[in-house]
Amino acid sequence: NWVMGDFVQLEIARIRELVGDRALVLGAVSGGVDSTVAAALMTAAIGDRFKAILIDTGCMRLNECEEVKQTLGKHLNINLTVVDAGELFMTRLAGVSDPEKKRKIIGSSFIDLFEEEAIKIEKAAENTPNTGKVEWFLQGTLYPDVIESLSWRGPSATIKTHHNVGGLPERMMNGQGLRLIEPLRLLFKDEVRAIGRQLGIHEDLVNRHPFPGPGIAIRILGDVTQERVEIARKADHIFISMIKEAGLYNQISQAFAGLDTNRSVGVFGDQRVWGYIVILRAVQTKDFMSADIFDFDNAFLKNVSRTICNQVDGVSRVVYDLTSKPPGTIELE
Ligand code: XMP
Repeated sequence: NWVMGDFVQLEIARIRELVGDRALVLGAVSGGVDSTVAAALMTAAIGDRFKAILIDTGCMRLNECEEVKQTLGKHLNINLTVVDAGELFMTRLAGVSDPEKKRKIIGSSFIDLFEEEAIKIEKAAENTPNTGKVEWFLQGTLYPDVIESLSWRGPSATIKTHHNVGGLPERMMNGQGLRLIEPLRLLFKDEVRAIGRQLGIHEDLVNRHPFPGPGIAIRILGDVTQERVEIARKADHIFISMIKEAGLYNQISQAFAGLDTNRSVGVFGDQRVWGYIVILRAVQTKDFMSADIFDFDNAFLKNVSRTICNQVDGVSRVVYDLTSKPPGTIELE
């Protein structure tokens, strides 16, 4: 383990030395702890020569984009640009149900948008004291991501393409000569959280469950449509809020509500409805490589199920996923 106080000072010095005093650094933020800590470190090191970009894929959690704007932009003073790309993602994902295809489409759309932003940022910097070029791309990669992505590239074939490790940077690296800067690549999650606290990042964000880059798109089995995203998003918000109210959030490593491909029959009043099936998932894990399901009280789950069916139009059934990892993965796709 690092002595965390030293880490922050050493890393800030290392970033300053690497980047020098003109170059601009571009980085993606998601509102998660890793990218936020990485962005806060960059901001501490080089101020607003670091440009953070939040891509609103239309597949983020309920109210998330607004919350990230507030926290990163206002509270942490990170120079943040939000790119509203919901429609682009919906159009590109229309009719695509294969999980790996979804990931590839989302990953390459991220790159398209970053490239556009990099050009805009350099243009905007021309008339300011920061006349440098965008030379670096920041990623909040952690040590376990590094290890997992190495094994994915091995002979055992791809398990999943995490676009924040494999794929994403390469086109930008080769095409634009950007260099990758990964201040967290030797750290584990608990160490990143400790650094986050030291940098004054709010406890709610520091303890936030991880959220995959492709977002809700890989939590709804099958086609990504606006309607299905909305249903999953509302159900997820209810589930997570109830977990927080019950004081269970910090005992769970990751929880979410997703959506099945199929529909099922339900009765509302005296009407039969052909409704959506919400899948609840909650796991406990140390390293995200293997995971156990969280043991809720049945009463709690029944309450969540009732609340979701009552409050989310179109849902006729709620199920709890009892599969550990392996054989299941944490995400549904
Ligand atoms: P799995 O589903 O592989 O998830 O058991 C392990 C951890 O990785 C996250 N995950 C992703 N993160 N892009 C990401 O940025 C992805 O495509 C992706 N797939 C899984 C997942 O949320 C969990 O924390």
